[in-house]
Amino acid sequence: MTSTHFGFETVDEAEKARRVRGVFDSVASRYDLMNDLMSMGLHRAWKAYTVMVADIREGYQVLDIAGGTGDLALAFSKKVGKTGQVVHTDINEAMLRTGRDRLLDAGVALPTLVCDAEKLPFASNHFDVVSVAFGLRNMTHKDTALAEMNRVLKPGGKLLVLEFSKVAPPLEKIYDWYSFKVLPQLGKWVANDDTSYRYLAESIRMHPGQEELKALMQKGGFGHVDYHNLAGGVVALHVGIKC
Ligand SMILES: C[S@@+](CC[C@H](N)C(=O)[O-])C[C@H]1O[C@@H](n2cnc3c(N)ncnc32)[C@H](O)[C@@H]1O
Repeated sequence: MTSTHFGFETVDEAEKARRVRGVFDSVASRYDLMNDLMSMGLHRAWKAYTVMVADIREGYQVLDIAGGTGDLALAFSKKVGKTGQVVHTDINEAMLRTGRDRLLDAGVALPTLVCDAEKLPFASNHFDVVSVAFGLRNMTHKDTALAEMNRVLKPGGKLLVLEFSKVAPPLEKIYDWYSFKVLPQLGKWVANDDTSYRYLAESIRMHPGQEELKALMQKGGFGHVDYHNLAGGVVALHVGIKC
């Protein structure tokens, strides 16, 4: 059995998948509230920027991977018109169900599918845009997942990876204090779960930085990759074009 990281711990790959599932089973019902509190609402601006860069047109076929409670899927669904389609997917049933209910409450019914980003059940060269927001960090084989995203995109199609990244050096100290002291405490008060939010802080530190992720995407088949730092690198939006 090959080992990998779960936050700062080294665990078997199967154990990582089990623990990631545990994290999102635990936080699903409080996920949106925690997102607003943790980011002080900033995640909405980061996602709005992602939607702007996605530049979705009427008729587009769009795949949202690790879509969770559906923020991006909902925003994309307003842009594809009657001739396009957004597919909302996640590996975790609790997250996907929370998202599907939220979308239905907003009057939006989308195809919703439980699936692993590392084994996408879609034909090759099908989607115009693929997105993954705050999901790649949790995947065991990021290279396999990126290659799958590349496979299902049409030539010229666009991948958007919105993810925590490496902050600019002047922000490091305060960001460390916030991540390791404030976040777990907030998780404990709001979601009765400090462990999951400690994992969040650790998993961010273990995730590839801006340049490393760019290289990983190029290795995964994206001919052109660019990134945009947001909030001083707290988050980065990587954009890859299949060419
Ligand atoms: C932090 S949430 C992000 C949810 C949503 N995209 C957002 O931005 O609010 C991360 C999501 O990644 C999903 N995930 C983790 N590993 C995955 C995998 N291998 N394939 C698909 N989804 C995965 C989790 O189930 C979880 O819903």
